[in-house]
Amino acid sequence: MDKEKIEKIVNKHRNEKSAILAILHEVQAEDNQLNAESLRYIALLLGVPYANVYGLATFYSAISTDKKGKTLVRACDGISCHINGGEEVIEALKSKLNIEVGQTTWDEAFGLEKVRCLGLCSISPNVSFNDKTYSNLDKEKILEILQKVMGDSK
Ligand code: FES
Repeated sequence: MDKEKIEKIVNKHRNEKSAILAILHEVQAEDNQLNAESLRYIALLLGVPYANVYGLATFYSAISTDKKGKTLVRACDGISCHINGGEEVIEALKSKLNIEVGQTTWDEAFGLEKVRCLGLCSISPNVSFNDKTYSNLDKEKILEILQKVMGDSK
């Protein structure tokens, strides 16, 4: 991420060290990842050691230093989703994207992750594409949605 964008986010939080987690979340949301260069610059702006910033970024599962892809697909593998056909949905995503869970497509357009619960158990299985969540899915529905998202992202 370019330095100007990071500065804007850090300034929004008035360079408060206590806002470090919020800052990491926002930088990640903007850039789909937190690379070492971004972490170093955040540390510099906040006046805290890089090791502290890196430690936080690698401790919390919601924050990642891996490249996530422009669209992060988060497929729920919690109990409700699993018993309602979530595994079939995840298999369809893996097959269509041609990646395994935890990987990113060759063009960095999509990343695929499994999550424990998206908070919508009663209308499972669920999959989110960045901030938008789709529910009551099956293999056909998820492939239809993925096709549409792929078309929109071109
Ligand atoms: S288990 Fe999937 S949304 Fe809760």
